[in-house]
Amino acid sequence: MKKYLVIGNPINHSLSPELHNYWIKQNKISAVYEKRLIDTQDIESILADLKNDKISGINVTVPFKKAIIPYLDKLSSTAKETASVNTIYKSNNQLCGDNTDIGGFRYSLERLKFSVKGKKALVIGAGGVAPSIISALNIMGATQINLINRTKKKAEDLKKQFPFLEIFNWGETIVSDIIINATSIGLQNNDKINLDYSKIGTNRLYYDVIYNPTKTNFLKQGEKFDNKVENGKFMFIYQAQLAFEIWHQIKPKIDDKVLELLKND
Ligand code: ATR
Repeated sequence: MKKYLVIGNPINHSLSPELHNYWIKQNKISAVYEKRLIDTQDIESILADLKNDKISGINVTVPFKKAIIPYLDKLSSTAKETASVNTIYKSNNQLCGDNTDIGGFRYSLERLKFSVKGKKALVIGAGGVAPSIISALNIMGATQINLINRTKKKAEDLKKQFPFLEIFNWGETIVSDIIINATSIGLQNNDKINLDYSKIGTNRLYYDVIYNPTKTNFLKQGEKFDNKVENGKFMFIYQAQLAFEIWHQIKPKIDDKVLELLKND
């Protein structure tokens, strides 16, 4: 039986095992997908297990998406561009890192039939998921990608990676067509996003990468000012679907049971 893992710290909250094990069963694959809490010093031995076929694939989550890169033999162009790996597999005896978060975000917008082409975007946050969001917005043809982060230095560091970014101060209101919360604010429902929502306008898309809780205060504010809102549930589902395809060469179905599995409140 093949074994797949999601590694991170913390990891308890991860719903990846539920989703992957459901698809594994549905597609009659002889495999199991588990979550594992790790520290940096565990990375080497886990990757050795992948090399020795004790493990067949790995998902990587916070805070190791960047830290894992030096241990890999090969990166996809998207993993290289974002310096962020969330999916690892073995090919020709090489450990390969890929990034399916970009596709996850992209497909979730396509599902909404929201076109970013020619639009202005505001990304809030410069942590682990921000590079994937920025890269996806760029691929989809956003004309301006604005970025704010509490710690401005981290936003400026991202500009070295993505020179087209426009950096603004935390708390500054930048009128944009799509506003994405890529911070962890909202996980505890203690919103501290310092934005004057009333000045952003109406009929924009407010997007939160968080999906538990289903509706963060950021999204509630979006609704209050007559905007469309979307949480990170489909981004999560699509990134998992893309990882599943990489490992099993099967595109699993996003059916009602999948949505049921991720129902959290
Ligand atoms: P990491 O930065 O380790 O990758 P992350 O959870 O991916 O962790 O990112 C956390 C993001 O949420 C960062 O943009 C962080 O802002 P800082 O760079 O200033 O730390 C942001 N964040 C988390 N809590 C916040 C808060 N209370 N107020 C403002 N921003 C916050």
